[in-house]
Amino acid sequence: MQPTVIAPSILSANFARLGEEVDAVLAAGADWVHFDVMDNHYVPNLTIGPLVCEALRRHGVTAPIDVHLMVEPVDRIVPDFAKAGASLISFHPEASKHVHRTIQLIRAEGCQAGLVLNPATPVEVLDYVLDELDLVLLMSVNPGFGGQAFIPSTLEKLRRVRERIDASGRAIRLEIDGGVKPDNIGGIAAAGADTFVAGSAIFGQPDYADVVRRMRAGVDAVRGQRPA
Ligand code: DX5
Ligand code: ZN
Repeated sequence: MQPTVIAPSILSANFARLGEEVDAVLAAGADWVHFDVMDNHYVPNLTIGPLVCEALRRHGVTAPIDVHLMVEPVDRIVPDFAKAGASLISFHPEASKHVHRTIQLIRAEGCQAGLVLNPATPVEVLDYVLDELDLVLLMSVNPGFGGQAFIPSTLEKLRRVRERIDASGRAIRLEIDGGVKPDNIGGIAAAGADTFVAGSAIFGQPDYADVVRRMRAGVDAVRGQRPA
């Protein structure tokens, strides 16, 4: 099991002052910046692209930027994000015609590679590619919008993917995205997640440090009970 990562989703930040928001949430104790890219095609919403990623780097952000691509096609935009300073790039298998090739492309561009499973995507999509991945991201809402409720069946799916990762013997992160809050993070951690995205739960509160602290405490409370 890897060290806990709290990755605030800037989808719920105030975009009119994004640099300050990212500075504030990192100063509040967050580990990564979760960067949601939506194209109004693969998902019915439109957000931010490589220019904004690059702007955050120029602003001085040194924390890992965790790019979650909800775009189709995927490959065209990967090198742009690598050049813009992305640390990890994750994509949805439904959005790429050649999943294995896309993973190779991300790694060849010098980034860590993640595969994202929607709530209805079977875990078998990991067959034959798990060993090529640095991260598996389970969606606990349908992608496209912040502020949705956590889908409970994701807990069972987390347990199944955790078993596969442990069996692989590789240091692959298991990330959860959607409806994560201080009051449900313990159950999510107990099911096997080690990397936690939260948008509205963090940016919707005035005191980011307080939320991040409560999230970490919720994870630590169950981590102690898990065998190493
Ligand atoms: C949804 C995005 C999420 C979203 C999570 O498609 O991938 O990262 O920002 O938002 P919350 O934490 O509010 O559910
Ligand atoms: Zn996301």
